This record gives sequence, structure tokens and C-alpha cells, in this order.
Amino acid sequence: MKELPKWVSLTLYNLKGFIVIDVKNLKYRLQFVKALILSGGKGTRLRPLTYTGAKQLVPVANKPILWYGIEALVKAGITDIGIIISPETGIEIQNKTGDGSIFGASITYILQDSPDGLAHAVKIAQPFLGDSPFVMYLGDNLIADELSQYLEEFKTKNLDALILLRKVSNPSAFGVAKINAEGEVLELVEKPQNPPSNLALVGIYFFSPLIHHAIAKLKPSARGELEITDAIQCLLVEQKLVCARQLKNWWLDTGKKDDLLEANRIILDTNLTTENLSNIEDNSQIIGRVKIGQNTKIINSTVRGPVIIGDNCYLENCFIGPYSSIANNVKLSEADLEHSVILESAEVIGIQQRIVDSVIGQRAKIYLALKRPKAVSFMIGDDSQIELT
Ligand code: G1P
Repeated sequence: MKELPKWVSLTLYNLKGFIVIDVKNLKYRLQFVKALILSGGKGTRLRPLTYTGAKQLVPVANKPILWYGIEALVKAGITDIGIIISPETGIEIQNKTGDGSIFGASITYILQDSPDGLAHAVKIAQPFLGDSPFVMYLGDNLIADELSQYLEEFKTKNLDALILLRKVSNPSAFGVAKINAEGEVLELVEKPQNPPSNLALVGIYFFSPLIHHAIAKLKPSARGELEITDAIQCLLVEQKLVCARQLKNWWLDTGKKDDLLEANRIILDTNLTTENLSNIEDNSQIIGRVKIGQNTKIINSTVRGPVIIGDNCYLENCFIGPYSSIANNVKLSEADLEHSVILESAEVIGIQQRIVDSVIGQRAKIYLALKRPKAVSFMIGDDSQIELT
């Protein structure tokens, strides 16, 4: 018989021909796995985009990064979701994401007043989590693997923590795991100067309620935060059941521009289906997988997929190359771009050079004032980057 997880333990026995169900553990039986998505933080590595918006709402293939996490959880059957928000971007996240009904989920927003660490976020979410097992999901992480396979293992093996690992070239930037030949976790360290391996902790964790006891014992780390890595290390020291699995497919932590572009490329490559909700003029060419929203005009242009273009866009005399995502209300004229993400209401007009590997923020404008410019003129926000190649 398949072993039942702790929180659904109940006893079946035969009494004078009757099957009796012992419901003294009913409390546990009725507990389902919840999820806690962390969507606070300042998004410093994605500035200037994150001065005006949450990093978790930056779009990948025209959909906020955060929504991929919610959809993955719902797909694995987890619909009771808490989202940690910050005072700076919480309202924007709530307005965009709503009560969860568009995903078939129920979302509870939990305000974290100051960014005091991932374990601190779990601590303040305790009233929501109760003594349910839960998946903790960092809102800017994206993985290709389905969550259900890991969730199943976590439940059937009665684990106290299941962590996911992935080989990286810069382990010092992450939590790092030391494992033995059998794949058992020996030690976890947060952002070590001398990493014990190249196996980084992915920002998706499965926890039993025991994690709360470990968190209660934590002291702030050198960077002044309560680290979830230290809490899992505490479970290890106490010989609780901690398991690690290496991801089979890609993992992206979209907190930086290059990762964002890479996530955009992979999602367009793997998930995009052709769809055209607008009338495209005869003199334009649409090649390959291209998704076009409503009320978009494309005049005398070539679009070579995979490309996604939102609603109410205007494109004239353009070449849009592979791996580009163009959000709603964008205007492009005499523009040539590829492998780029253009956010809502941005305008690119008359730029002869091909725009590559670029992220252009909401309402940003790049345009040519003279036919043969001798100089360039800028008004650029703090922390912007311009690379003339
Ligand atoms: C956090 C965790 C780290 C983990 C990483 C994954 O780092 O502390 O252990 O490897 O997420 O994205 P942070 O994003 O806070 O630097």
C-alpha cells in the first residue's frame, strides 16, 4: 500500500464486520498544501525598470513573471496562495493580480513592512500558513520542470524539506548545497565566498510546518536578514528529513537584464502559439510563430517569429526579428529589432541601427530628430544603460 503522508494519517480497522475510520487525525487530514509566493524586495538588479514597478511584474513574453509561478502552482493542484508584498509595490501587484480568480486560485496578500529576509517572510506569513505544509516560491524564479513531481515526492516521503538544486557557474551569488555521492544534503551555506559545490539552491522550496520552529531559532545573517538557507541548515543539524533534487531542465532567476532576455527567449521558443487577432496589411510579411493582439496595425513590415505583439500597437516600416516581445500600446516606426523586450507604451522611431539584446521600459521614447544625426541627445533615468555597439 502506498505510504500516506503524515498530515493525512488515519486508521482503518475491522470491528465486527464494520470498517471503522479513526478520525482523531481528521485535523491533519483536512490540511492541504498551501503556497507562499515572495513578491516583495526592491529589484535593485533590474533598475531602472523597477523604480516605477515591481520586478515580479516585468513581463516575459508579455506576461508578468509572477503569473508563471501562480500558474505552475495551480497546475500542481495548489490553489490556496499567500503572496508577500512590500509597501513600495504591493498595491500594483494586488491591482494586477487580483484575488486569484483568474487563475482558479484564492490569493491572500501579506504585507512585509521591511525586507528582512526570506525566513522573515515565512515568519510573518504564519497566521496564513497555520500548520499546513507549503511550497515557498520566489516570485522572480522560473523553472521548466513541473512542480507536481516534486510535490508528490515531498508528500509521499513525509519530508520536512525538499529543496531543488541546479548547477551554476557563479555559486557565490546563491545559497549553495554540499551533497554526498548518494545525493544527500550535508550542508547548506548562503552566498559563500568559497562555495563547497556549484549546486545553487533554486528559489522554490517544499516545507513541513517544522520550518517555523527552525525559523524561530534564527539570528540575522551578515547581511542583516533571516535566511531561509540557515533555517534549512538548522533542520539538517537536527537530523530532520531534508532531501534535494537536481532540476532536470532550465531555471532562471529573472532578477537581471540578461536573465530576463533569456527567459523571454525560452518562453517564446517553447510556449508561443500562433494567433492573430488584428488585420494585417497585405504588404507586410508575418513569418513563423507570431502572436498578435487586438487593434494592432502592421504596415509595410516584416515580423519573423517567434515574436509576440500586444494590443493597440502601431508598426510601420519595421523589421521585428526573433525572440522579441512587444507589449500593448507600443509604437514602432522605421525600427529594426531582435531579441528584445519592449514594455507598454514605448516608442522607437527612425532608428537605423538594429536594436538587439535590449529592454526598453514603459513609455520610454527613442527617436531620430535629424536624418543624418551628428550628435545624440539623451534624457535617461537613473541606473539606465546605453551601449553603442
Ligand atoms: C535567494 C536565496 C538563495 C537562493 C536564491 C535563488 O537569494 O537566499 O539561497 O539561491 O534566492 O533565487 P537572493 O535572491 O535573496 O539573493
